[in-house]
Amino acid sequence: MPTASKVLDRVLVLEMVRVTEAAAIAASTLTGRGDEKAADAAAVEAMRAALNELDIDGTVVIGEGERDEAPMLFIGEKVGSGQGPAIDIALDPLEGTTICAKSGPNSLAVLAIAEKGGLLNAPDVYMDKLAVGPGLPAGVIDLDRTPTENVAAIAAAKGVQPKDIIACVLDRPRHEALIAELRGIGCGVVLIGDGDVAGVIATSDPDTTIDVYMGSGGAPEGVLACAALRCVGGQFKGRLLFRNDDERGRARKWGIEDLDRQYDLKDLAKGDCIFAATGVTDGSLLEGVRRVGGKMTTESVVMRASSGTVRWVKGEHRLDL
Ligand code: FBP
Repeated sequence: MPTASKVLDRVLVLEMVRVTEAAAIAASTLTGRGDEKAADAAAVEAMRAALNELDIDGTVVIGEGERDEAPMLFIGEKVGSGQGPAIDIALDPLEGTTICAKSGPNSLAVLAIAEKGGLLNAPDVYMDKLAVGPGLPAGVIDLDRTPTENVAAIAAAKGVQPKDIIACVLDRPRHEALIAELRGIGCGVVLIGDGDVAGVIATSDPDTTIDVYMGSGGAPEGVLACAALRCVGGQFKGRLLFRNDDERGRARKWGIEDLDRQYDLKDLAKGDCIFAATGVTDGSLLEGVRRVGGKMTTESVVMRASSGTVRWVKGEHRLDL
């Protein structure tokens, strides 16, 4: 049987796009319909069906929730025919359920795969996140520094002033102090309503003008974003945030012992991994699904960490077949 890394390389790269395309197309039929749950359910069902077509021995390590909470794509669910290589899968069939329901920007169908043990089994808790794109000196960001200190370090590395730095932050009351501190030193703050996977990846694309991603969001989304940054370059720091003992218990259940640990990119997504995403609605990373005449069109990206290859895939899907 081929090793997982060979299969990741040769076969699964494009198969992953078919999986995220299926989820995005399914969710798109409910874009702007105001029903988050229905859009999510459609994406989940389509992604699961597409994964089960593949010759893989897949295990969902980041999914829709724990077995008793999620009927499909729960953590630990086996997917695929069971015949191929053993791989771990982190997925979010609809990243940005609210965005999709409101037809806002940047909702995605997202998936990352790695060899067994390559992705942190992140519990569904918050994670403090700090990310920059490629080309900056190692160690330029650190969660143990203040936002002001991190911005100063990034600005110095880029040869600009702190006031020239643009930060992307989720628009949440919990980020009021962070936003005030950033604006206090003259930074531009791009506030996003949802969708921090796209927010983190935006740091790697100069066209977005975003220099740094800051603030807390879902830990599972943090792992997915790290799989992408592993492929395109960049730095990421993450620390799990717990609101109560139940959340601490969840982390321990998944084998996390040091609850205060500051994770690096490679702690969250290590070894060879593939990241794939298809746009559901238009966004900074991808165009959303469109219905044009008798076809649906999709835009996807698929990337591989070991080669750094990034492929952009346009799909046309006939509705009459
Ligand atoms: P969902 O797709 O699960 O709705 O997640 C959207 C999202 O914005 C993520 O991108 C982000 O990590 C998380 O929610 C932030 O959580 P909260 O809305 O609780 O601040």
